[in-house]
Amino acid sequence: MPEKKARSVAVNRSSVSHKVRYAIANPGRIAPHVKRTARDTWLRLRHPDHVDYYRAVMASDAARSPEAAVGSKTHDRWLALGKMQFDYLREHGLSPDQRMLDIGCGNLRAGWRFIEYLDAGHYYGIDISPDILIAAKSTVASRALQGKLPHLTITQNLTFDFLPDAHFDVVHAHSVFSHSPIEVIEECFAHVGRILRPDGFFDFTFDRTEGAEHQVLREDFYYRTSTLVALAERHGLAARFMDDWGTRRHGQSKIRVTHRAA
Ligand SMILES: C[S@@+](CC[C@H](N)C(=O)[O-])C[C@H]1O[C@@H](n2cnc3c(N)ncnc32)[C@H](O)[C@@H]1O
Repeated sequence: MPEKKARSVAVNRSSVSHKVRYAIANPGRIAPHVKRTARDTWLRLRHPDHVDYYRAVMASDAARSPEAAVGSKTHDRWLALGKMQFDYLREHGLSPDQRMLDIGCGNLRAGWRFIEYLDAGHYYGIDISPDILIAAKSTVASRALQGKLPHLTITQNLTFDFLPDAHFDVVHAHSVFSHSPIEVIEECFAHVGRILRPDGFFDFTFDRTEGAEHQVLREDFYYRTSTLVALAERHGLAARFMDDWGTRRHGQSKIRVTHRAA
């Protein structure tokens, strides 16, 4: 796992010493962080359940800018991050006849490219946020992709109980587990095997730490690779770290999960 700077995977962003050092180095970021902390504290008090809380965070962020809400500060970066996801799966053999489930599809930063490439009806995007799914529909319209009939569905959990057995060649979750507590990830692992074809795979990115696992504002969660690999294995899946993702300009790491026999 050579790709990330040693410092960035060792740092504990929730520690007081890190916060003080960061504030001294970035004084301009103190006021926005205080504002975000206040907003998130209020939203957490109103929504004790994580999914409800994060849906409220997305509503607040998407009201300002759907592209910023999925983590892209500029439109160019939004385009580049979507292309990075698309190119990676194409290099890993994605073909138009395959069926794809995009968990946490957001406003289709990558999704529009998959929709355009895959056969009609083969893209299935799910998200917890109605606000971002409304923005996703605008992306479908602005890219003139109506004929591809993508499925875009709201979800409250990751049990996939509305989806058929062994249906998807590719399941994908980009920058979703970086915002998820371990219970959400475990729920996904407990159920994803049922909807994955025998030779299919599930790729997800995560914020990696090699130090103590931690979270910031219950918005950003940092996990050790070994934790996620072991969790997948406990649910009868095989999991491996994808070194070739680390060569791209993206802050997160990637793991691929398959059926154990695959
Ligand atoms: C950082 S955005 C990334 C969106 C998209 N994957 C992309 O790369 O553009 C994270 C998305 O995941 C969604 N999300 C967060 N937790 C989720 C969950 N437990 N199930 C489904 N979607 C979730 C958010 O609403 C948001 O749209």
